[in-house]
Amino acid sequence: MTPSKSKLPAGMKIRPFAMADYEAAARVWADSGADVDTHEQIRFISRRYRDLFLVAEIKQGIIGIGYATWDGRRGSIWRLSVHPDHQRRGVAQALLNELEKRLRDKGATWVYLFTGIENEIAQKLYEKNGYQPLDECITFCKLLVEKRREDTREP
Ligand SMILES: CC(C)(COP(=O)(O)OP(=O)(O)OC[C@H]1O[C@@H](n2cnc3c(N)ncnc32)[C@H](O)[C@@H]1OP(=O)(O)O)[C@@H](O)C(=O)NCCC(=O)NCCS
Repeated sequence: MTPSKSKLPAGMKIRPFAMADYEAAARVWADSGADVDTHEQIRFISRRYRDLFLVAEIKQGIIGIGYATWDGRRGSIWRLSVHPDHQRRGVAQALLNELEKRLRDKGATWVYLFTGIENEIAQKLYEKNGYQPLDECITFCKLLVEKRREDTREP
């Protein structure tokens, strides 16, 4: 899907994340109601997947963020969020397009993502882009450490 250029915030660019963006990125997540990963978590993931960790930026600052991971065959897209002041302008669509392109360029054949069962807006975005729920799979998870405060947000 290509968001119409006129709808996108003026001058918006998509570029790789840098650690100097952390505070701005955390604000986008927090203000859009998403979880905020710690500095250390983001440092780890952005080093490992430098070219797959993207921000959408306008003159005033960062307005969108999202990243992908890649295991050599399948890609996954994580933490896509757009600041509420800039939603419904095609920002998530543009980030999703770019993440998919970068995964495809690496040779990924499939892309997976998780979203909340009640997150109807995100579901609309993904369905519009051809994502389908996997009826034949169940997501299992297991806590590997003693439960800490920051772990409570996981299921
Ligand atoms: C989900 C989210 C990233 C969408 O960002 P966005 O930049 O507003 O989305 P876009 O403008 O690119 O919309 C693309 C498509 O998604 C769907 N969509 C987005 N917002 C929608 C809304 N409020 N209601 C219905 N559909 C919506 C539409 O199909 C839209 O296409 P259209 O504008 O041509 O109808 C944003 O709402 C957000 O940050 N939510 C909070 C964080 C979150 O839940 N992230 C998902 C993690 S899995």
